[in-house]
Amino acid sequence: MTNSKRKILVTSALPYANGPIHLGHMLEYIQTDIWSRYQKLRGHECHYICADDAHGTPIMLKAQQLGITPEEMIAQVQQEHQQDFADFHIQFDNFHSTHCPENRELASDIYLKLRDSGYIKTKTISQLFDPEKEMFLPDRFVKGTCPKCKSEDQYGDNCDNCGATYSTTDLLNPYSAVSGATPVMKDSEHFFFDLPAFETMLGEWLSSGSMQPEIANKLKEWFEQGLQQWDISRDAPYFGFEIPDQPGKFFYVWLDAPIGYMGSFKNLCDRRDDINFDDFWSLNSKAELYHFIGKDIVNFHGLFWPAVLDGAGIRKPTGIFAHGYVTVNGAKMSKSKGTFIKARTYLDNLNPEYLRYYYAAKLNNRVDDLDLNLEDFAQRVNSDLVGKLVNLASRTAGFISKRFDGKLATIEDKTLTEAFLAKQDTIAQLYETREFGKAMREIMALADLANAYVAEQAPWQLVKDEAKQAQAHQVCSNALNLFRILVTYLKPVLPQLAQSVETFLQLELTWDNLSQALGGHEIAKFKALMQRIEMKSIEAIISDSTENLQPAQVKPVVEKSELEKEPIAEQINFDDFAKIDLRIALIAKAEHIEKANKLLRLELDLGSETRQVFAGIKSAYAPEDLIGKHTVMVANLAPRKMKFGESEGMVLAAGPGGKDIWILEPHAGAKPGMRVM
Ligand code: MSP
Ligand code: ZN
Repeated sequence: MTNSKRKILVTSALPYANGPIHLGHMLEYIQTDIWSRYQKLRGHECHYICADDAHGTPIMLKAQQLGITPEEMIAQVQQEHQQDFADFHIQFDNFHSTHCPENRELASDIYLKLRDSGYIKTKTISQLFDPEKEMFLPDRFVKGTCPKCKSEDQYGDNCDNCGATYSTTDLLNPYSAVSGATPVMKDSEHFFFDLPAFETMLGEWLSSGSMQPEIANKLKEWFEQGLQQWDISRDAPYFGFEIPDQPGKFFYVWLDAPIGYMGSFKNLCDRRDDINFDDFWSLNSKAELYHFIGKDIVNFHGLFWPAVLDGAGIRKPTGIFAHGYVTVNGAKMSKSKGTFIKARTYLDNLNPEYLRYYYAAKLNNRVDDLDLNLEDFAQRVNSDLVGKLVNLASRTAGFISKRFDGKLATIEDKTLTEAFLAKQDTIAQLYETREFGKAMREIMALADLANAYVAEQAPWQLVKDEAKQAQAHQVCSNALNLFRILVTYLKPVLPQLAQSVETFLQLELTWDNLSQALGGHEIAKFKALMQRIEMKSIEAIISDSTENLQPAQVKPVVEKSELEKEPIAEQINFDDFAKIDLRIALIAKAEHIEKANKLLRLELDLGSETRQVFAGIKSAYAPEDLIGKHTVMVANLAPRKMKFGESEGMVLAAGPGGKDIWILEPHAGAKPGMRVM
């Protein structure tokens, strides 16, 4: 490894801005943070960049559901994400959003370069369209009956029940998960990125060693099946960036998401005189660029992204590091088992450094899944961090302050100190190559040696003998010097603990200072550094996570009041009001209309006459639930010709739509035809 100062830009995947951070996500941010802190500890210029991924249909729909604008929602989610990350000691140099001016400009520039080089094609394609919401439906928003096993309410393109995969258009009785309407096929012009034009470049890239072999091999399989044009446009309504010169057409979220790495870095550079954007992104940049990602998004990072960069004349990543998925207690995280654990739920109960250590202890540089076994987690943390590491200090530090005026002796030990220092290159190499688990084992093996030394010397016995005070002083000082080396090695994993130890030892823990032995100086009074994990904290996490499933979770994060959603209209006088003739009506008949998605046909009995009214309440009421009920209608509304006939009035109802429509019903006793005032 060279000792010269490297320029490194490192990223984690950008979390979607429509949900909370959970412990699955945290694997990636902890892994990247350890690596980037390690680089900084070695004195390299390393910038760790991230952002929220704020665009796309799910984000647009979630905001609608909450009754707020997407901008409001992503701002709030971003705050929560940043708080979670900060509390886990994730040290981003910048955390931004893909919905920002820098990203809009970069995405447009890159698109225009691709277009002007002939890499953008257009083609008209036919897709499922929700006629009620007037929007194209991504696969995951179409439900229907599995064409194979006939199980109902299956999502998109695969069946949960029988595992069949199919095209969304093969679903039987398809319906829109957004509105319930039956989707129709509709044509639209889409923009495609010409991925096949990059075949030669990608072939070389896949063999360049920039990705782990298992990932490169998987991508090669796809590659060999033939590259397809990549659809990069979506039609309005969409929350994203409009494509330059193409009103109503937006960039697909996965086009501008990785560009968000650049956008966030640009935002940082604009605020700092000492970092230059082009030093990192120009075609001839010497800086290193690494993306840490999960195994589910390797195609976007390993195929589309390098091709987009290449087509736009921008440098490619130095490395892409994929990790596996977190399972909890041996299974996929599950809301009903209470193992879908949000970062916040964990933080409410446990010290973040426990998880940082556990993940580190189980991470390697391959793409294996990682099991967070909660019992093993507690045992491992208690035995390694509390039993080995912290114990080394807690069983020796007290004597320094009580017996030796809080001053350390000059270190005379050579053997152990040298054995500890001899491991520094091995440990460095393990951090560098993301073999954190092996690094933790090396460090804990050293901790064992130190503890064996203390046990053998038994300073608690030595201090009892007046003649052995100097020896006791020496043993405790040695132990703390070894402790200092261990904590320096662990600093990327346990930054908070390292900081407390710096205060305790009154010095800065740096890699360069490793071989400067402690000696002679005064240290602070020892304070407990870390508690054992109690099983009851783990049980609390599980039960808090299980509770989250109860109706409370369905409740929107920010609930606007009805009056905020729709402010009260301009004032009117009584005469204005009196113009509206409201009457009690008996619903004599209610029926479905063939081919109508929203409407029911009602016959309203006013006592001496009957009115036909078409009401948009099909999503909320079955006809048989209405017949025989009384309601209130606007009786003097001008009749309106509709597709299915004339509507002679209107029934009164409240609610936002869909299933949530409630018709007015008078108290018992009101008779058809009575005026409502
Ligand atoms: N927004 C995209 C990434 C865009 S990058 C230009 C995305 N977001 S995500 O929120 O779904 O996931 C963010 C990261 O967390 C991804 O790398 C994903 O693989 C990772 N993980 C999400 N769940 C995970 C586990 N259960 N286990 C490990 N990592 C997981 O994908
Ligand atoms: Zn099926």
